[in-house]
Amino acid sequence: MPYYYRLPGGPIYTIYRDMLDQTHLMIAGATGSGKSTVLNAIICTALHYPPSEKQFIFLDRKGVELDAFRAAPHCIGYAETSADMIQTLKKCIEIMDQRLQEMKRQGVKVYPGSDIYIVIDELADLMTTQKKTVTPLLQELGILARAAKIHLICCTQSPLRNIIPTEIKCNFPARVALKTATRQDSRNIIDQAGAELLPDPQTEHRASCIYRRGATTTLYNDIPRIDDEERDRLIEHWRTAHKHFCNVPIRHKAGA
Ligand SMILES: Nc1ncnc2c1ncn2[C@@H]1O[C@H](COP(=O)(O)OP(=O)(O)OP(=O)(O)O)[C@@H](O)[C@H]1O
Ligand SMILES: [Mg+2]
Repeated sequence: MPYYYRLPGGPIYTIYRDMLDQTHLMIAGATGSGKSTVLNAIICTALHYPPSEKQFIFLDRKGVELDAFRAAPHCIGYAETSADMIQTLKKCIEIMDQRLQEMKRQGVKVYPGSDIYIVIDELADLMTTQKKTVTPLLQELGILARAAKIHLICCTQSPLRNIIPTEIKCNFPARVALKTATRQDSRNIIDQAGAELLPDPQTEHRASCIYRRGATTTLYNDIPRIDDEERDRLIEHWRTAHKHFCNVPIRHKAGA
């Protein structure tokens, strides 16, 4: 019996799997444009992999959007307050340093272990209050974390230069623009106009996005959402597997 196994993912997941495979990802769009929905779908895609391959640390200011994922054994950290978030980011840098040292010891170029995704919903919110502390932490993670397999996935309403500084933004070559309020917001995210013309999911009940990877941009119409039942099914699957095959207690807090 395999210790843990991967679940097959249908075609619905193709676009989200590509997003998951990026080193770092920034998702931006106006209020209600579907940022959390995309985030949710990316995490569900990762939940097709065992916790030994994909792990998550959540920085969730609202404390509701990502709460359900705490129950998955993939979740190794969760922070809601700004103070906790900063502590958690520092902890992530420690993990990164340990991984880099281990790589040096083994003489390998890529860390031979799990991918860790640091998921930040509402990055703008954190930056407005804690910019001075958070900027150098994110910068360090942005530059060094690639080989250590530590990835940032950030959501923000719009990466205005005064909120998300260029030194952070430049570490995110992969960006997803959902509907933006203005043309300028679209330029701020994907360096071109167009996202302001996308449908508003709150009134039209469908969402489209413009996905930029390096210099290539692609428009994806009617991007799928993953419903709560499917999410809960995935989490329950791993909880059961974890109970059966692994005696290690499920951790909810970074460093716990
Ligand atoms: N891909 C989608 N297909 C259909 N409807 C969608 C899609 N994405 C979002 N919606 C609709 O839009 C609403 C807002 O989505 P969501 O909460 O993900 O936006 P958000 O950008 O995270 O908002 P906020 O800025 O408030 O955090 C959802 O409740 C849903 O009804
Ligand atoms: Mg949201």
